[in-house]
Amino acid sequence: MSDPQPVYLSDYQPPNYQVTHTELTFDLDPTATRVKARLMIERHSEASDDAPLVLNGEHLTLLKLALDGSPLTEADYRLNDETLRIEDVPAAFILESEVEIAPSSNTALEGLYQSNGMYCTQCEAEGFRRITYYPDRPDVMATFKVTVIGNATSEPVLLANGNPVAQGALENGRHFVTWEDPHPKPCYLFALVAGDLHKVEDRFTTMSGRQVALQLWVEQENLDKTEHAMASLKRAMVWDEQTYGREYDLDLFMIVAVNDFNMGAMENKGLNIFNSAAVLTHSNTATDAAFQNVEGIVAHEYFHNWSGNRVTCRDWFQLSLKEGFTVFRDQCFSADTNSAPVKRIQDVSFFRTAQFAEDAGPTAHPIRPDHFIEITNFYTLTIYEKGAEVVRMLRNLLGWEDFRRGSDLYFERFDGQAVTIEDFVGCMAEVSGADLEQFMRWYSQAGTPEIDARGEYDYAHAEYHLTLRQRTPATPGQPDKLPLHIPVRMGLVGTKSGKDLPLTMNGETLGKDAVIHLREYEQTFIFTDVAEAPVPSLLRDFSAPVKLHFPYSREDLAFLLTHDSDGFNRWDAGQRLAMLALDDLIAAHRNGVEKVMDSRVVEAFRTLLTGQVSDKAVLAEMLTLPSEAYIAEQQPIIDVDAIHAAREFVRQSLAMALRDEFIAIYNDNVSDEPYAPTPEQIAQRSLKNVALAYLMSIEDEQGLALCEAQFAADHNMTDVRHALTLLVHSDRDDLASPALKAFGQKWAHDPLVMDQWFTIQVTRPQLDVLERVEYLMQHPAFSIKNPNKVRALVGAFAQNRVNFHRLDGKGYALLADVVIELNRLNPEIAARLITPLTRWQRFDEERQQLMREQLERIKREPLSSNVFEVVEKALA
Ligand code: ARG
Ligand code: ZN
Repeated sequence: MSDPQPVYLSDYQPPNYQVTHTELTFDLDPTATRVKARLMIERHSEASDDAPLVLNGEHLTLLKLALDGSPLTEADYRLNDETLRIEDVPAAFILESEVEIAPSSNTALEGLYQSNGMYCTQCEAEGFRRITYYPDRPDVMATFKVTVIGNATSEPVLLANGNPVAQGALENGRHFVTWEDPHPKPCYLFALVAGDLHKVEDRFTTMSGRQVALQLWVEQENLDKTEHAMASLKRAMVWDEQTYGREYDLDLFMIVAVNDFNMGAMENKGLNIFNSAAVLTHSNTATDAAFQNVEGIVAHEYFHNWSGNRVTCRDWFQLSLKEGFTVFRDQCFSADTNSAPVKRIQDVSFFRTAQFAEDAGPTAHPIRPDHFIEITNFYTLTIYEKGAEVVRMLRNLLGWEDFRRGSDLYFERFDGQAVTIEDFVGCMAEVSGADLEQFMRWYSQAGTPEIDARGEYDYAHAEYHLTLRQRTPATPGQPDKLPLHIPVRMGLVGTKSGKDLPLTMNGETLGKDAVIHLREYEQTFIFTDVAEAPVPSLLRDFSAPVKLHFPYSREDLAFLLTHDSDGFNRWDAGQRLAMLALDDLIAAHRNGVEKVMDSRVVEAFRTLLTGQVSDKAVLAEMLTLPSEAYIAEQQPIIDVDAIHAAREFVRQSLAMALRDEFIAIYNDNVSDEPYAPTPEQIAQRSLKNVALAYLMSIEDEQGLALCEAQFAADHNMTDVRHALTLLVHSDRDDLASPALKAFGQKWAHDPLVMDQWFTIQVTRPQLDVLERVEYLMQHPAFSIKNPNKVRALVGAFAQNRVNFHRLDGKGYALLADVVIELNRLNPEIAARLITPLTRWQRFDEERQQLMREQLERIKREPLSSNVFEVVEKALA
């Protein structure tokens, strides 16, 4: 077999044939589902008369094929593993086919599969071709009529997109429901669900007064976990009307929870299908973070109804057109619903850790890639999160009002069409008159731009000279980079007054907080009438997805930490200050020198703890040290042990120096109010739990007692899980073991809680974790076929830096074993799981060697195109 080949954006050709209407009939059976398709097809006016009809189809058994009612024989078409080709077709015709598929043996979870006995689908990006022969590309849009036939007892509920138009009983205990979706859509938005499901129902009145029925479908035992998702959905519907003027367009909106799902959720028209982890919550089973995650994902999928479904992508290279925009929309929604500064801090902190790492690794790609082998490998942090940062920059460049006008124009002009990123940015340029030509490079250039900033205060002339120099490192296939248009939001904070100074440039007053535009490789900005020596506050609110270097002293950072008017930069100053101390300690650890804690960090934390910051959620973030993963990103060569030791040293030093303050914070924030996922309660819990983590890092007697009591109180999952994690991650196995056991027994029946139980155990720093993973993989609650379980156990283990990177290489070998097994079962998940191994260049020689050996071992297997693509890049 030859290696899988890439497809190129530059090869894009419009389709020769459109499907204008699609009728499907599913006769469901676990091993032999029959799918009949009746497609109304028209040749494109510009296509030549002899253009062949080429349909995609994989893992299908073709039983019948007819054109305009006449059966076709094998002489009339050509069939291979991927396509069905008919040479001579009229300009308009009806193609009928019947195929057989086996949902119960579909472990890839693409196309039609079974999860816990229930039938469901996942078609984005190219899963529909596992259901029937079809032009499986987003620029082919049809109306759909779908009939689903199942057993009345095992599949009492039969769902598809749109509205139900007919239903009835059939022979042999079978029944059917017919659905019609009036909105033309690409087949990746098709969905079908059948099973023993139960619903929670609500209503929504749209801004124009239309009534929409809202239904959440779950297995019976999960009926008590739907309230938050339903409330989130209604909030999202209101928000999209008020913020973007977008109204829902069907009479029915359904969400279904399924246990086996490759990603978070899917925006199928009128029938969103969710990973149960992304929709089910209950105060006893889900943490605050899970509640917030559910709210964000419910909103994200709902927002896709416009940014994705009504206006979709021309081809999969444009994926960020819908994902970047929709992530930006869900981020703003969550910011409006919760604490906006905390949302930004959390998003950026994640982004700078995970997306920067992706940009720095062998799979780095632009927001709009120009080629790919397997599109499922491109559902990445770059396409989603960096795509959202770029949309955010557009919003900031244009201002909200013009951005909103651009968005209105985009939805109006392209409604019902499949379009490109140029179409989107073009609308923004058109309404605002902004020149966005250079800005477009953000879409084509991969890698994280770095800005080296230098500033100088000229006392004599009362001027501040700020020089910014940009460079973007080479990435695979892109050795040379052009300068980008980088908006840098900034202020100058006076060292005497502690206040933002008025900014004047070229005689123009810019206010106290302004955006300067870096477009060249190097530019110097001169601020005049600067009355006192300032400390610059740069890249406020993370105004561009770049790394910014400025030679701040620790005094500068301590000053910004308390005086910056921008909340995000106050937090960032704290992170930078901690990083300086951590860097020294990492060096000390490596050189075998005694570690000494920087007293300035202790004093800065003391200041934070004793007043000043009124937003408790922000304070909790400010008291949280950069993660080991983030610290690693900052190092030239990652030394996992030195990083772990340095961070533990800082944590323990702070805990010892500020023990009484932490106890006080804890006690001030304990509450026995009934659980609610409100911003106020979440803020309190996170602050209290940060304090508890510090106390537990030194196994403080009182801290231990509080932790045990918090676990025993069993008040809500946030507190229980946090306490259990701290116990399990401490050296007090005498306390941890019984707690872990009790928790595991209590929740043995609940898969989402068992996921947490797995993760807690395999993220502990003690060096026995690999053996635990091997043991837990045999646990009855574990299944390699369930992506959530794989992520919770194996994926979480690979994030455990000291254990995964053991010098005997056993961590790498374990991951490779799982990848090899999953390569056969679920290639999408297998390809994702390899990620930590692909970052081998970042480690010492010995580990590089060990990681490469495992990649080579994987490469010797017969590989899916997904795993092939990732391994090829990693070893290139
Ligand atoms: N469009 C979905 C979302 O962002 C994700 C689709 C995932 N597709 C995949 N092949 N994994 O909400
Ligand atoms: Zn999405």
